[in-house]
Amino acid sequence: MKIGVVGCGNISDIYFKNLTSVFNNTEVLACADLDEQKALAKKEKYAIPYVMTLDEMLECKDIDLILNITTPQSHYSITKKALMAGKHVYVEKPLALHYSEGKELVELAAEKVLYLGCAPDTFLGAGIQTCEKLINEGKIGKPVAAGAYMLCHGHETWHPSPEFYYDIGGGPLFDMGPYYITALVRLLGRAESVTACCGKAFQERIITSKDKYGKKIDVKVDTHNAAIIKFESGTIVTLVTSFDVWGNNMPNLEIYGTDGSLSIPDPNTFGGVVRATLADKKKFENVELCSPYYDNSRGIGLSEMVLAISEGRANNASGLLALHVLEIMESIIKSSKEGKAIILESTPSQPVVLDWNIPLGDLKTFG
Ligand SMILES: NC(=O)c1ccc[n+]([C@@H]2O[C@H](COP(=O)([O-])OP(=O)(O)OC[C@H]3O[C@@H](n4cnc5c(N)ncnc54)[C@H](O)[C@@H]3O)[C@@H](O)[C@H]2O)c1
Repeated sequence: MKIGVVGCGNISDIYFKNLTSVFNNTEVLACADLDEQKALAKKEKYAIPYVMTLDEMLECKDIDLILNITTPQSHYSITKKALMAGKHVYVEKPLALHYSEGKELVELAAEKVLYLGCAPDTFLGAGIQTCEKLINEGKIGKPVAAGAYMLCHGHETWHPSPEFYYDIGGGPLFDMGPYYITALVRLLGRAESVTACCGKAFQERIITSKDKYGKKIDVKVDTHNAAIIKFESGTIVTLVTSFDVWGNNMPNLEIYGTDGSLSIPDPNTFGGVVRATLADKKKFENVELCSPYYDNSRGIGLSEMVLAISEGRANNASGLLALHVLEIMESIIKSSKEGKAIILESTPSQPVVLDWNIPLGDLKTFG
């Protein structure tokens, strides 16, 4: 499967590295960026055959799939253009800025019989896959409740161009929420309704990373979101995402079942430590990870989508999953504005079980 990568910014290195040297079913043929110098630098560093414009990529018959890793504001327009041109698309999170746009993309992909995939794919990493296995084996009984906390003070201290984190499509909810919500949906199934309260502590942020040191950013989104998400299974989840918090002692993600509890590693990572109350219902013990994908495996969702295309089945990091996550995020904002619970309409795709008894890079479907 030959891939054209659009967007050669901060996150692109790990994609270029993994797609060219870890996964055995992906090949990057070309890269593009509005800033051609950035694309030329990646061509050089990762021995990519061509630098192209997006339009050249879409006209190129050798490219089957577009990896859209531009900033969130361009996710919808580039994904739509690529689907219209007959290319499969895998896009970074969020799928789009608005649920209506995400829905249009999912429907367009279905109409054109093309695959649409979306990050995050961290839930296919060893940490969350181990948790999924424990839940599916009934090790903590029926999940009753969960707590998910992504609390930090924003990205302007380290990201070279952090403006997009405080624009529409950014904020802690749209930036970090997808990791947490995607993991929750994968582990607990479809969410049914959302109630939330959101706000912001700072109207302005000051960049302290090197290149733009001292530049001010207008904060256009809420930077603290507290939500209760009710899942169809009955599980009640407390989710808080914030860029307004300095230090905290909250867990990343915990699921509480009728027979025990599960401590889930940071869903923005692929590995981490999984802890569960297996022998004693009150004391946590470490659980061995079930797969070789514990290092930064960004792109595993794309590699798995390529496998799904060859097998003619649905992919795991799917457009439908990302659309459900997007609806949950948008509903958190809407619930806070309207002061009422929002009932969700979308349904995520069914998970496809992968065989983890395989060497790194060679994904296989189970059975
Ligand atoms: N930086 C991270 O740690 C990180 C981690 C995971 C996911 N992401 C996600 O990856 C995406 C990109 O993030 P980033 O940190 O790499 O951003 P970035 O600003 O560093 O890079 C984005 C690149 O896309 C290019 N671009 C924007 N619009 C374009 C267009 N229309 N055509 C061609 N090129 C275009 C920009 O010129 C820029 O080089 C975002 O959706 C972000 O949420 C980032």
